[in-house]
Amino acid sequence: MPQVLTDIDLTSRNTLGLAARAAHYAEITVASDVVALRADSALGAMSWRVLGGGSNLVLPEVVTGLALRVALPGRRIVGEDEHAVYVAAGGGETWHDFVQWTLAQGLAGLENLSLIPGTVGAAPIQNIGAYGVEVKDTLFELTAHSLHDGGSRVFRNADCRFGYRDSVFKHGEADRWLIGEVVFRLPKVVTLHTGYGDIEQELTAAALPRTPQGVAQAVINVRRRKLPDPAVIGNAGSFFKNPIIPMAQRDALLAEHPALVSYPAGEGCCKLAAGWLIEQAGWKGRRLGPVGMYQQQALVLVNHGGAARADVAALTQAVQADVMARFGVPLEPEPVWW
Ligand code: EPU
Repeated sequence: MPQVLTDIDLTSRNTLGLAARAAHYAEITVASDVVALRADSALGAMSWRVLGGGSNLVLPEVVTGLALRVALPGRRIVGEDEHAVYVAAGGGETWHDFVQWTLAQGLAGLENLSLIPGTVGAAPIQNIGAYGVEVKDTLFELTAHSLHDGGSRVFRNADCRFGYRDSVFKHGEADRWLIGEVVFRLPKVVTLHTGYGDIEQELTAAALPRTPQGVAQAVINVRRRKLPDPAVIGNAGSFFKNPIIPMAQRDALLAEHPALVSYPAGEGCCKLAAGWLIEQAGWKGRRLGPVGMYQQQALVLVNHGGAARADVAALTQAVQADVMARFGVPLEPEPVWW
């Protein structure tokens, strides 16, 4: 059974850098650790939470119960058919390192998701995405371990019920599973996705090759310019989802705000750029206490130092209220609040 530690500081274990402590804490290094911990009656009576890279989390000052950090290692090619190569990675692997490893194996499909913070096991929970690609596009299946009884279950892609920054692990099955291993199906015929954002421009400007590695480098360059490095300034990436609204509402808004940024989102709906809404509402680069919206990307909430959950909540509400007052659009936070 893994060692269970008490009163552990989680400040450096969440990328927002919020001051937080875990009442009980253990690291999962083999899947059977879950069953072993479950068998302990005192631990079994506590509430359990799973911690990955801590890059999409808003922590309270005290995390009661047991916080489990997933440290399951491993990455390997597990199979191949006519059309694709199948690769598996442990839930504790660092996402970016895994993506770079697939590229080094000559495999493509994950390059647009380079430099996203966090772990492989956390990636399916919010269906991470960037530059026109989401984890759901190549995820084949995953193995999860029940926090209730330690039993294992395989979730195929469809079982995960992926949506925009969403999956069954945020809703119906929230806080029930620890994701142990994820298998990706990487197609042998390479299709580069360079049409989104500044990627095409960056490939040209930096004279990068039109290969998966070239696209990965373009993504890395663009992200480094726009998004703050959590090691330097605390943040959790995009803090709000881009809101999806009916086309009719978009048209009415567009009449009033001709510069409104929106994208089609299927079935008479469209997605608005929340960063644009927040900037227009006057929050780009503005602070409230120790937190603020980032100067280079208004969608990113940053911790200027010493923030706690209450500071994040106050800013969240202030931004939501101003965007609502100006545009009549509700903003939903992207991170998970414990
Ligand atoms: N915009 C502004 N002002 C801002 C920020 C953005 O006007 O301060 C405008 C931009 O000019 C652009 C549009 O909003 O026209 C979209 O901006 P950007 O391309 O930077 O992307 P985003 O919609 O803000 C999303 C994801 C990011 C992902 C990028 C690139 C969400 C919530 N966020 O951001 O994901 O990296 O696209 O694909 O969907 C994350 O989820 O943590 C994350 C970083």
